[in-house]
Amino acid sequence: MSAFPVLFVCLGNICRSPLAEGIFRHLTTEIGAQDRFPTDSAGTGGWHNGHAPDSRSVQVAREHGIDISGLRARRVEPADFDRFALILAMDQSNLRHLRGMAPAGSSASVALFGAYALGREVDIPDPYYGGIEGFHDVYNMLFAGCRSMVEKLDAERASWSGNTSSVR
Ligand code: 4NP
Repeated sequence: MSAFPVLFVCLGNICRSPLAEGIFRHLTTEIGAQDRFPTDSAGTGGWHNGHAPDSRSVQVAREHGIDISGLRARRVEPADFDRFALILAMDQSNLRHLRGMAPAGSSASVALFGAYALGREVDIPDPYYGGIEGFHDVYNMLFAGCRSMVEKLDAERASWSGNTSSVR
């Protein structure tokens, strides 16, 4: 059974995408599908390389029984476009950045998290400069999207060959 690796991408890889990674892993683990859907997160910017997630993301995740404190930030790299089947951007700016750096002929599908997971062309708003409420809102959006993704991906995985799709 082939795996369907999913990468979540935001700007700094300390607020939104580690939360998405933690939620997605939590939900796939709940149904015993964590090996079929390996996951990671990364940032389009590298300022926080090696840093733990923002304490507000750690707190909100913990309130929902999810521990993301061990994650460490990293920047997106060209190899990610072949290593991952699906790369989901948190906002339009992240999406433009990803499309601009995707190597020609790479196999990953690149999409907006909102469009792919929520069925709406919405950004997951950057909560970094706001208060904790923004992190709760982000959590709720990410949880709703990840829950529907887990159902949808199970069907997609069956048709994914790992090297024939093109970056969208
Ligand atoms: P993230 O949030 O992209 O969700 O991780 C941000 C984190 C850090 C910065 C901006 C956004 N920053 O400017 O350092």
